[in-house]
Amino acid sequence: MKQGGSDAAKRAAGEAAAETVEDGAVVGLGTGSTAAHAIRAIGRRVDAGLDAVGVPTSFQSRELAREEGIPLADLDEVSVDVAIDGADEVAGGDLVKGGGAAHAREKVVDASADRFLVVADPTKEAEALSHPVPVEVLPAARSTVAERVEALGGDPDLRRAERKDGPVVTDNGNLVLDCAFGEIADPERLATALSTAPGVVEHGLFVGLADAVYVGSEDGVTVREP
Ligand code: A5P
Repeated sequence: MKQGGSDAAKRAAGEAAAETVEDGAVVGLGTGSTAAHAIRAIGRRVDAGLDAVGVPTSFQSRELAREEGIPLADLDEVSVDVAIDGADEVAGGDLVKGGGAAHAREKVVDASADRFLVVADPTKEAEALSHPVPVEVLPAARSTVAERVEALGGDPDLRRAERKDGPVVTDNGNLVLDCAFGEIADPERLATALSTAPGVVEHGLFVGLADAVYVGSEDGVTVREP
């Protein structure tokens, strides 16, 4: 996984995106170490008087937002103005997400937002997507989805937990197959093929969803609009 970016770069990206949140906004709160910087920055702004409501994308982002004092709502109560979320790989406006196994809820929240801002460090950028694609599956569909992935030319690997025997279990009670396809020539086509496999809850290909990509570095932030 591309986890090599510096914390300063992640922080620069997260804080720059958090600065764009307007008074009265409903904000989708992404998952991972880069989005966490945005959540902390929004928390500081809320503390200073900003009126904002957060919609978490995971257990982790909910806990952090609570700690930061950000008022929270569920997606069936509000509509999201802007979502801020990280990525494991970014090529143009297409992403691979799910390094933290949160991509199902992330996709629901990020896709519903009027604007979806991706926050990343330079190690996440690529010419073409090639990062293994996390695929959340119903436990009963683990082997049938794996067969479908192999038929699509992929190599599925059940994600194992750390500090627990057995597999990673998602916030939704499902399993994750990390599926290596090499360089993905047609992300949209692969996304459709994965989505239509019975038992797939959601995959980590986010095709054409990003409105802006904030890439942080130790020297500042570059904003791209794909
Ligand atoms: C969570 O499942 C992922 O989609 C994260 O958003 C992604 O892994 C980026 O995380 P980092 O910002 O920690 O690299």
